[in-house]
Amino acid sequence: MDRDALKKRFREVYGREPEALYFAPGRVNLIGEHVDYNGGLVFPCALSFGTYLLTARRKDRMTAFATLNFDHAATLDERSFTSKPSAWERYPLGVMKEFVDKGYDPWGHDLLFYGDVPSGAGLSSSASIELVMAVMLNDALGAGIDPVELARMGQRAENVFVGMNSGIMDQFASAMGKAGHAIALDCATLDFEWVPLAMEGHSVVVANTNKRRELADSKYNERRGECEEAARALGQKVLCALTPEEFERRAGEIPNETIRRRARHAVTEHARVEEAIAALKNGDLPRFGQLMNASHRSLKEDYEVTGVELDALAEEGQKLPGALGSRMTGAGFGGCTVSLVANDAIPSFIAALGEKYKALVGLTADFYIASVGDGAGKIE
Ligand code: GLA
Repeated sequence: MDRDALKKRFREVYGREPEALYFAPGRVNLIGEHVDYNGGLVFPCALSFGTYLLTARRKDRMTAFATLNFDHAATLDERSFTSKPSAWERYPLGVMKEFVDKGYDPWGHDLLFYGDVPSGAGLSSSASIELVMAVMLNDALGAGIDPVELARMGQRAENVFVGMNSGIMDQFASAMGKAGHAIALDCATLDFEWVPLAMEGHSVVVANTNKRRELADSKYNERRGECEEAARALGQKVLCALTPEEFERRAGEIPNETIRRRARHAVTEHARVEEAIAALKNGDLPRFGQLMNASHRSLKEDYEVTGVELDALAEEGQKLPGALGSRMTGAGFGGCTVSLVANDAIPSFIAALGEKYKALVGLTADFYIASVGDGAGKIE
């Protein structure tokens, strides 16, 4: 939807002109899954699709929430911090609460959201809603909060207000994305580097299983708990501080076999990300692809967050001509895979994988060629 169409919709909903337009992107993670909350390295990039937000100030201290994605709309005041609505507006409300905690008054806006990230696909539609709200309030209130802190506020909104114990990766990528670059982010320190996506005739292809991520939130929180248990057994603050060799020497200190496998994933995934970033910098895309495949296997066997749909897309994708690597991306349990594919092989890759997936799983996959965009900000 273009800007004029969005503005027209704002006029239809609120009967007046919007005063400003903001955008925050979704993200795709190239490698480094389920390591952000273990103090590891991740390597996401911001997408050119995400969430738009049109706004106008109100005279009262109410805020109106509407979206072009769902029918549900609401006009709320500060009592909603206690009553905690269960619909989509809990994401921006959680961000408003973060501004209150910093001493600001975030009320008094008419808001119209529009997201073009497929929702529930593991491409961070929720982080993009949080970040678009955070950059809007930061601008409207003249708060001058830096983008990394806005990302943290988005994460806290999700952890505290929404109740999903996510790490920092998605919000960080949405806040700090840069067109044509992936973000090498050390989640233990939040040190980061923008690495040019020099792909020599290859592209990042995202494939959506179109399987809803049922129970994903509770399973996600369960995995986090398992990693904390492993770290306690090893007397480590964060699992990713260990090298794979150190881990193997000490793995016996974790009595439970399942917990040991969860920790093994985190430790080896962190090492794979280090190597993958070096491979990309050296122009060794085939090695990058192999590490993506190894990441998927580890997420399937040790971390157990894939499922038949993600396995079919990733494993069949890995076999196709022109594909250097393929893996699940995001939290798992459904959602998307990410593949590195030679540009001239993309049409045949999409056709063959779509057909194979339909035959194996009975669902139709959607494919997008990722276009890597900038982080959250004001458009006009
Ligand atoms: C979700 C979370 C992130 C991260 C990924 C898995 O997207 O929001 O913090 O943990 O899962 O890598």
